[in-house]
Amino acid sequence: MGDASTPSFVELERVHEAIMEELQLHQDALVVSDLPAARRHLDRLVLMLKAHIRAEDEVLLPIFAERVEPQVGCTPELLFNEHRKLERLLKKTQERMLVFEAAGEIRPRERVYMIEEERMLKEVLDHHDRRERAAFFPNLDQCIQGEERQRVWEQCRLIQGSYID
Ligand SMILES: [Fe+2]
Ligand SMILES: [Fe+2]
Repeated sequence: MGDASTPSFVELERVHEAIMEELQLHQDALVVSDLPAARRHLDRLVLMLKAHIRAEDEVLLPIFAERVEPQVGCTPELLFNEHRKLERLLKKTQERMLVFEAAGEIRPRERVYMIEEERMLKEVLDHHDRRERAAFFPNLDQCIQGEERQRVWEQCRLIQGSYID
């Protein structure tokens, strides 16, 4: 039984949604050529995604790997490798953004190019979200309960706070 005062790991779906929203806001700004706003949202996306990935890699994935039977389509290796892929795609987006900022403008076809290039980042985020919703968060709920769950959440929040504050 879960403790009502300790949230389910399904709450992390909200973090995924907030990360996806930052990507959308970044693209909204790109489309209207608002480079400062596109930068602001990209920076937030990078911070949020890096913090979330670190909390999963360092706190949640080791427990998942140790205690949960291998899940079809959601092994620790798969999640770990997808995190690396997300980091690579994020880096590519950051590098592209720097090029446009150095030029001081982003022309219409460059906006289209950038949005198309970010398509892969969006797709991997979406696949990863579905994988974790289906088999990662529910299994974490099963195997981390009570006081331990409180401690684990606290560790995740500490990592999160070190990026956002
Ligand atoms: Fe996640
Ligand atoms: Fe993840």
